Amino acid sequence: MSKNIDVPKPADIDETKVKYLDSQPVEKVSVLDQNIHSPATPGEKFFPKFQVSPQLEAKADERIAQYPDDQKRSAVLPLLHEVQHHFGFISPESIDWVASKLDISPIKVVEVVTFYPGFRQKAPGRVHFRVCRTLSCAMGGSYELMDKLCELTKIDRSTADGHKDPISVSPCGNYSVEFAECLASCGTAPVCLVNDDFHEDISADKAAGLIDQYKA
Ligand code: FES
Repeated sequence: MSKNIDVPKPADIDETKVKYLDSQPVEKVSVLDQNIHSPATPGEKFFPKFQVSPQLEAKADERIAQYPDDQKRSAVLPLLHEVQHHFGFISPESIDWVASKLDISPIKVVEVVTFYPGFRQKAPGRVHFRVCRTLSCAMGGSYELMDKLCELTKIDRSTADGHKDPISVSPCGNYSVEFAECLASCGTAPVCLVNDDFHEDISADKAAGLIDQYKA
């Protein structure tokens, strides 16, 4: 048996009570605000603030020239590496700059930055530890190593948020940590990267010695 539903007819609608969606103020959030998480960190003092210098322009142009004119978007990885190398991380402003250099929309650059965990979205510490947490290293003690590094550097990892916000920085800004996936040296687990240096067989009891190697 069909049910009678009392659907108001247009003539019955009180226009004064209608709220039109397009009359509501809509907060505009850019694609960068939605997808890039770049809060300030104590590590920022160790890196120059992003700015486009003639040297950076020249370096970028040199990289772009290595690709055919109609394929210059392929230079997105080298350009991002340049930015991270000089400024420590990929800021929203730098994403806009890379996009404009390559004549692509910023979302195309965001896709690359958020896909590769090697690209950082906020400033790390002066010394950045990337501890492998994949199977061999996890079984070999990489979680204990991470705990020890945090204890010795006073890093609070409680707000780390997976792939979205993996980096935790010490209050002094000197140190930061993040977990990494397999660093391709499973036979010498546990392993970690400190800045660009690779360290093997780093059990938790070697954490203090490792930090000492990077004291300023
Ligand atoms: S599991 Fe750590 S290097 Fe492969």
